[in-house]
Amino acid sequence: MAEYLIAGNWKMNGLRAELAEAERTAAEEIADNCRVLICPPAVLLPQMTALLDGSMVRLGAQDCHPEDSGAFTGDISAPMLAESGASYVIVGHSERRLSYRESNNLVRRKMQAAWRAGLTAILCVGETETERNSGHAHAVVGQQFAECTPEDSTADKLVIAYEPVWAIGTGRSASGEEIADMHGFLREEASRHFGPGQEIPILYGGSVKGDNAAEIFSIADVNGALVGGASLRAADFIRIIRSVPVAQA
Ligand code: 13P
Repeated sequence: MAEYLIAGNWKMNGLRAELAEAERTAAEEIADNCRVLICPPAVLLPQMTALLDGSMVRLGAQDCHPEDSGAFTGDISAPMLAESGASYVIVGHSERRLSYRESNNLVRRKMQAAWRAGLTAILCVGETETERNSGHAHAVVGQQFAECTPEDSTADKLVIAYEPVWAIGTGRSASGEEIADMHGFLREEASRHFGPGQEIPILYGGSVKGDNAAEIFSIADVNGALVGGASLRAADFIRIIRSVPVAQA
């Protein structure tokens, strides 16, 4: 049975009071075939690292700068995140692609920065509703994957997250067919890029909740979820974690 990664992206939510939510998640017994990750705002990373020390929950960040240091006011580098306790970093989230016009080229440089710092990069890809409706979903997602993934990279320390833009924060998750189709496509693209047999985890993200998680996890080529809104409260997040299929002996 493949491992499942359940990653919570808190986005720009969470003050110190919310550390208790992460603590509650960490107190949960987590199945052996499941890895849980929380990506809080970067300022909470040091405290969360101390708080979750010894627990099964890992920590990640939501973005990094492509350079390791320099005159980049307001930015945070991958080595800073690693030193603050992150072992993962999300790159290329559609909210950053859309709000800050992040290009595939920039996202690729961020992936390289993440790897230099020893972090696992969670590369987000996904089409807008207009792109899907005009029949370009595969072309857009394929191009994002190809242009964001450095030529000389290996499959180590890489996670792909398919997050259709129209499903994020809308309560309207992609259908089982849509998810199966795009994950199958990404599996093929990854195998073309890295060679067959490389087991890159492919997460689905976009309105994953406690009541649709089990169905989503049963779809072929889905290796977990990148969860936004439903990761903010431990009770909701734990329901999703508990939806991971039980490993067969
Ligand atoms: P929601 O789960 O709130 O739809 O957000 C998904 C997401 O963008 C995770 O990165």
